[in-house]
Amino acid sequence: MTQSHCTHLAIIMDGNGRWAERRGLPRLAGHCAGERALRRITAAAPNFGISTLTVYAFSSDNWKRPAGEISGLMNLLETHLARELGACLKNGVRLSMIGRRDRIPETARWAVEETERLTQNGRRLHLRLAIDYSSRDAMLAAWQPSCAPYDRQAFAERLNSPDVDLLIRTAGEQRLSDFLLWESAYAELYFTPVLWPDFNADDLETALEEFARRVRRFGGLPGQTVRTPTATAAESAC
Ligand code: FPP
Repeated sequence: MTQSHCTHLAIIMDGNGRWAERRGLPRLAGHCAGERALRRITAAAPNFGISTLTVYAFSSDNWKRPAGEISGLMNLLETHLARELGACLKNGVRLSMIGRRDRIPETARWAVEETERLTQNGRRLHLRLAIDYSSRDAMLAAWQPSCAPYDRQAFAERLNSPDVDLLIRTAGEQRLSDFLLWESAYAELYFTPVLWPDFNADDLETALEEFARRVRRFGGLPGQTVRTPTATAAESAC
């Protein structure tokens, strides 16, 4: 029942704006520093046994930000993909995007889809960039009238997004902000005051050490094997 290994790490990369503000720099400089941090953590993650890394790079609510910041972030997305392609291919990283594709600039969408195509065979790490992402929207899009009530597995398959083991949010806020709500039902949450551009492999290691100390019970008791109501009923019928 307990599990100390983090397979799927999710990160809300918060604090770019504050990082820039503290240095008297424009917000976009903070996002550029955040992009560098993302490259550091992508490189470090597989060394800790993480096989899926999902990062919140642009939420559907971020469209409310000033036009200049939005276009800066979309350009940064394209720059990130161009910079990372070589490293992804070299290091076995499969890159994909979650979120709506119909509202981001066409050039960004092309760059995402080309990178997805070229890195599809990466097996060491699956890096998922959440762009124009809203967990509520993702759930509404996955739901169909044919979805049977309580059939969690069928719904999860439609959502096509693995359960999160550990969710890290930087920069001190303690909320999920519409990120991976279904997938984080039993995630361990870790909040750190470190601003995202300063977050490094040592901070990741600290978070993973804390995760390893947590006892994950998934609603049961320590040391118990998982018994779903269905399994219990089937066993008692035998
Ligand atoms: C939240 O910090 C961060 C974002 C909205 C953008 C995250 C983007 C990156 C980490 C760069 C990588 C980007 C791409 C597209 C690959 P904030 O700006 O809300 O910070 P604040 O709360 O301090 O103002």
